[in-house]
Amino acid sequence: MVCPGSFDPVTVGHLDVVERAVSLADRVVVAVVHNPAKAGLFAPQERAELVGLALAGTRAAAAQVDVVGGGLLVDYCRRIGATAVVKGLRSGTDLAYELPMALMNRHLSGLETVFLPGAPQHAHVSSSLVKEVARHGGDVSDLVPPAVHGRLLARLSGRETEDRQHRDA
Ligand code: PNS
Repeated sequence: MVCPGSFDPVTVGHLDVVERAVSLADRVVVAVVHNPAKAGLFAPQERAELVGLALAGTRAAAAQVDVVGGGLLVDYCRRIGATAVVKGLRSGTDLAYELPMALMNRHLSGLETVFLPGAPQHAHVSSSLVKEVARHGGDVSDLVPPAVHGRLLARLSGRETEDRQHRDA
């Protein structure tokens, strides 16, 4: 089973879904998908590294981590012999976004999608909101795994320094 996503960066919500996927399937691959249309805060390889750090020592530690450089998810799944992907759903809005992709993936190659209801305590947690809150100095320490928190703050402060240098130049 493949757990695909941008993971920019991985959150406690993602971790919950991967842990539950590991309890359902013999083999789980967390696939960090590179979307060239989205300028990420972290490069795909860094996101994968952060996923690996987040999984270490958890119930999801058995999951593998991979980077998908481009192309269709169905082709990646075919290549590695996976017959299903797993996605967490926080809300009906997530379902509206995920359902057409799930149907398209099944149309293209018969790839199935397993939807897991997200844990209610993580319903407000997304990578984009985490970045937004952290960028403005809000506390996101309980929304991302500890290994990710330090790297996120360091990346944001580095970027802000760079921005200031450009502005002041
Ligand atoms: O975390 P995200 O950004 O919501 O994940 C979306 C993702 C990466 C799973 C989706 O965009 C995807 O599968 N991209 C790979 C390209 C592809 O197969 N596109 C057609 C999907 S029907």
